[in-house]
Amino acid sequence: MTTPLNVVILAAGKGTRMKSDLPKVLHPLAGQPLLAHVLAAADALAPEKICVVYGHGGDILPNAIGRDDLAWALQEPQLGTGHAVQQALPYLNPDALCLILYGDVPLTRLETLQEMVMIAREGAVALLTVRLPNPAGYGRIVRDAAGRVDRIVEHKDASAEELAIDEVNTGILCLPAGRLAGWLSRLTNDNAQGEYYLTDVIGMASAEGQRVIPCHPGAAWEVLGVNSRAQLAELERLHQRNQAERLMAEGVTLIDPARVDVRGGLRCGRDVLIDVNCVFEGDVVLGDGVRVGANCVIRNAEIDAGAELKPFCHVDGARVGAGAIVGPYARLRPGTELAEQVHIGNFVELKNARVGFNSKINHLSYVGDAEVGRKVNIGAGTITCNYDGANKHRTVIEDEVFIGSDTQLVAPVTVGRGATLGAGTTLTRDAPAGQLTLSRAKQLTVPGWARPTKKQ
Ligand code: UD1
Ligand code: MG
Repeated sequence: MTTPLNVVILAAGKGTRMKSDLPKVLHPLAGQPLLAHVLAAADALAPEKICVVYGHGGDILPNAIGRDDLAWALQEPQLGTGHAVQQALPYLNPDALCLILYGDVPLTRLETLQEMVMIAREGAVALLTVRLPNPAGYGRIVRDAAGRVDRIVEHKDASAEELAIDEVNTGILCLPAGRLAGWLSRLTNDNAQGEYYLTDVIGMASAEGQRVIPCHPGAAWEVLGVNSRAQLAELERLHQRNQAERLMAEGVTLIDPARVDVRGGLRCGRDVLIDVNCVFEGDVVLGDGVRVGANCVIRNAEIDAGAELKPFCHVDGARVGAGAIVGPYARLRPGTELAEQVHIGNFVELKNARVGFNSKINHLSYVGDAEVGRKVNIGAGTITCNYDGANKHRTVIEDEVFIGSDTQLVAPVTVGRGATLGAGTTLTRDAPAGQLTLSRAKQLTVPGWARPTKKQ
């Protein structure tokens, strides 16, 4: 049987430099809290347990994450990284491997973590290190004459010679939980910061002849942490660039890979084209050949093959059928379902509305809580009056109806198949199928009427 894996995520730090009331690890990267990214990486390793060490901000953190499958270890006060891991120990399986992650280091690739777990499974302590041109502030990796990792010295405790070392500790390590407990119990805070350093465990391990094997991330950004809003913005850009690379590798055309933001899961078919400044949130699926014009915001939506969103569309909780054309400046709100080849034009808002095959709502309309049939034409400025101030009511527009411009449909109301509504109609009763219905004051011309003139 393989040794189970436990993951400890350190997230008790204060995050002073964020200057925020929100705990640092709840600040969003790509629309998700930093901690959620770390949790996703941990989940992907299929661990037996995940324990998050929290402290600053109190219960805000567990409440915001809202998962009952996690163990939450409170660290109060925060006396250092070693002290933090001590708080997690009661929640860990002593026979497991323990992987330690930081809640504010969100971009570590799964492959990197998998490699560390593999090394620890073979009986070594796996330590993630990286060489940095400017290692200031980090713990330095001190190696012995044979080049083996000997210990870690924190920047503030380092000699001039040690400060010259450019290999640094990322903080991420993987080791047997049982041995960790013994080492942690021997930590002292006799150092420049008066803290219990987790890093001292490495010196103890190698002193006992335990092999410490350094691993390296494929890219330096994998181990970058967030301490300030500037660093958060920097990581956001890195992450967005990575996602853009992935999309292009999968065959998506991005007019400018630096001007697309994916905050969630975006799945694309073949030959999708995305113009500049589009934002994708939640789960979005774009079918083969979909074209998304500039400046669209699309969240939790499915756009079927060959559909086109022209610039400046806002789509939320909607489905757009194959070959449909939407926008520019259209708003599709939750519950909107457009069938194939529907046309939705500028300044049209739809909510909780189903629109059938090849129907057209091309200009300045609001259609809410409605069922629109096939091959319907809805003229400019048509409004479904779905709300009476207390309740919402449905409008049904059957197949092949033609609705003249500037019509109000006072719901609940039904327009029968093939009916025509004259322009300017206020429809308060059902319109029969196949006939012209209109409500309009009779046109009148006043003979001999003269315009008033200005008094002298
Ligand atoms: C730590 C490492 C250092 C490494 C650096 C990488 C130690 C002693 N030093 O230094 O070798 O180069 O990270 O970024 O481990 N935390 C707690 N409780 C605490 C203190 C910290 O949960 O009492 C958490 C923080 O929220 C953070 C992580 O641990 O996620 C690291 O803490 P931080 O204060 O940033 O450690 P550094 O001094 O930067
Ligand atoms: Mg730090």
